[in-house]
Amino acid sequence: MLLAYFLSHSASPHTVGQWRLPRSYQGLRYDRPEYWEHVARTAERGGIDTIFLSDSYSIYETFRGSSDDTLRYAVQCPRHDPLPLIPIMARVTQSVGFVTTLSTAFLPPFWTARTFATLDHLTEGRVGWNLVTTAGEQEGRQFGQPLDDHDTRYRRAAEYLALCQTLWDSWAPDAVLADRESGEFADPGKIAKIDFQGEYFSSQGRFTVPHSPQGRPLIAQAGSSGTGAAFAGRHAELVFGLRHSTRGMREFVARVRHEAIAAGRAPDAVRVLWGVVPIVAETREEALRKQQAIRDNVTVEAGLTMLSAFLNVDLSRYDPAAPFPDIGGTSGIRGHLATITEDFAADTPLAVIARHFAAGQGPHVVGTPAEVADQLQSLLEEGGGDGFILITHALPTCMDEFTDLVVPELRRRGLRPPGYAHKTLRERVQAGPLRVYRAAEQAARVA
Ligand SMILES: Cc1cc2nc3c(=O)[nH]c(=O)nc-3n(C[C@H](O)[C@H](O)[C@H](O)COP(=O)(O)O)c2cc1C
Repeated sequence: MLLAYFLSHSASPHTVGQWRLPRSYQGLRYDRPEYWEHVARTAERGGIDTIFLSDSYSIYETFRGSSDDTLRYAVQCPRHDPLPLIPIMARVTQSVGFVTTLSTAFLPPFWTARTFATLDHLTEGRVGWNLVTTAGEQEGRQFGQPLDDHDTRYRRAAEYLALCQTLWDSWAPDAVLADRESGEFADPGKIAKIDFQGEYFSSQGRFTVPHSPQGRPLIAQAGSSGTGAAFAGRHAELVFGLRHSTRGMREFVARVRHEAIAAGRAPDAVRVLWGVVPIVAETREEALRKQQAIRDNVTVEAGLTMLSAFLNVDLSRYDPAAPFPDIGGTSGIRGHLATITEDFAADTPLAVIARHFAAGQGPHVVGTPAEVADQLQSLLEEGGGDGFILITHALPTCMDEFTDLVVPELRRRGLRPPGYAHKTLRERVQAGPLRVYRAAEQAARVA
């Protein structure tokens, strides 16, 4: 199975309130390079395929029309820029990948193309772009730019990506000659002149960065509406799925594979990784105690603050003890609404759903290393897909625990290769779970 650690450059990334736990940020600070060096080394020690950094650009203010609770409970804030973390982490590692989030809503494609090409050089082909279209209206206000409607955002994103790809492809891999004798650094005949004129974006002139080790960053995507799945089927190489039932997982995978085929690609050209919250300890009792501590740290207000922002709906208008209300659709993250309406029992109270989202968003996978491995294995067997995005809680200890307790168990079962078999992130993701394992198995047999 492919594995990623899910983080953001924040004091309180995905499981709200976990900064309060005694084992959180032990002696480390989320805003310091040493912390990120530790994160990167821990991931690489566990042979994790990639670190996955989420991002957004606002202090949520949907709940009660105010950002006070967001700040009071550190609901995914403060948030720093994740991009500068990548060179810091790359310097202390050789193999782990770095997928980071950047929206197509605000910055010009030329800027994005240049940044990712630069990072791909600096990491020697280990970088990926989680392309998001931005669903939060407050993010638009933050940039002084109203958000387009849902489907326009995806149309714009497709053109944005097309321009980036044109820029990345414009230097032939052998365009740099660096010939000291002749004094020719590059062959201009191998560097295309861009003349891109689209509906939303344009760019003229030659790109500034030579062909990078991967050529283009790996493209990841997390939209899960119909339009999001179609976009993923056409463009993404890795999809971050979030479902709470194996039925929902199966449907999601089938839809993504169907969209890939419809776009003329192989069905497994898109790898689906599921968001789960692994909570592991030496004993089941201790793991359950940890889970309870995580849940206890999430107040109802914090949960409602987070879910209101995801759905672009002020949930303070509804009774938290009553079942999830009919909100009549969402201009926010449709995938989350689908999970709520399709995967949770209809009588689940709003407060329970909200607190669950703030306790990591994904299903909890709890127990001893063997129990966690069992659950991960059976989720893939029953739900399909290619691996997991491991949503973090107590940082950085939850990653150390997964690396040191669960990874050896997964390796023993042949679900993870013994080390890194591929140089670039794309090669690793494309090879996929089974083929990596089979290659490792064959190598072992030959040895
Ligand atoms: C599991 C998951 C993780 C996401 N992470 C981010 C993120 O880090 N930043 C962001 O702006 N949007 C994030 N999104 C939002 C999506 O990228 C997308 O913009 C949004 O879901 C709207 O598309 P949809 O209606 O197709 O789901 C995430 C969505 C899901 C389901």
